[in-house]
Amino acid sequence: MAVILDGRAVATKIKDDLRSRISKVKPLLAVCLVGSDPASEIYVNHKRKACEELGIDHQFQHFTADCTTEQIIDWLQLNSLDEPHGILVQLPLPAHLDKDLIIQSIDPRKDVDCFHPENQGLLMLGQPRFLPCTPAGILEMLHYYSIALEGQHVVIVNSSIIVGKPLAMMLVNARATVTVCHEYTRDLQSICLTADIIVTAVGKEHYRLTADMVKKGQVIIDVGIFREGRKIRGDAVFEEVAQKVGFISPCPNGVGPLTVGCLLKNTVQACESLSK
Ligand code: GUN
Repeated sequence: MAVILDGRAVATKIKDDLRSRISKVKPLLAVCLVGSDPASEIYVNHKRKACEELGIDHQFQHFTADCTTEQIIDWLQLNSLDEPHGILVQLPLPAHLDKDLIIQSIDPRKDVDCFHPENQGLLMLGQPRFLPCTPAGILEMLHYYSIALEGQHVVIVNSSIIVGKPLAMMLVNARATVTVCHEYTRDLQSICLTADIIVTAVGKEHYRLTADMVKKGQVIIDVGIFREGRKIRGDAVFEEVAQKVGFISPCPNGVGPLTVGCLLKNTVQACESLSK
């Protein structure tokens, strides 16, 4: 049976490390949610609760699903105020909105998600201003459990700007060998079997990471999340995969709490930098 990677324990450590920094500054995080995507509502609530737990002020803006790109860009006039120090727009956005324009309109110094092209570019150069929250959470998890990256082959099943692409850059910077897979990848099973570490982040019912795709000793980081009836499930068929591999993060209580922990870390960092 695999070692279960406990995201809550790692997140507690991240939050404990932040407490003394928060006693010296007064960060404010602004969060924008558009529409009523159930997963986004859950994520935003987790962010709000974590802010409250650490005493980070937050302000919340909810737009209806039929709002316009201009309304969100107007809201982003917050950029030029002293506060908030961190600004994020929860994704995905309804299709009629210009997501790229909205992300590019966030002040990069307040872009605590690290989605702005300037921040993604700095990350690619190995000179990050912020680390994107989910990839940073994954690296925190591996570090906490002393899982080395140098020379390891990491297979990532996701190619989004939220997870796969920035994670690949961070892993290359950490001297891992990286394969990025997506829906057009042929023979995913063979590729997964060559991995030392698999990061899977699909979250769709048609895809599962099954026991025949993994082998003894591997590390499985499961970022996928979807509802099956009343239960929340990750990408891995946990019971069978955990029997085979060396380490596995569960869902829930795996990477999720770390994403939020790293968001708080970026918010504190933004506040410290802007207060200098
Ligand atoms: N949607 C899924 N993950 C994230 C995230 O980390 N930040 C934002 N803004 N939207 C998301």
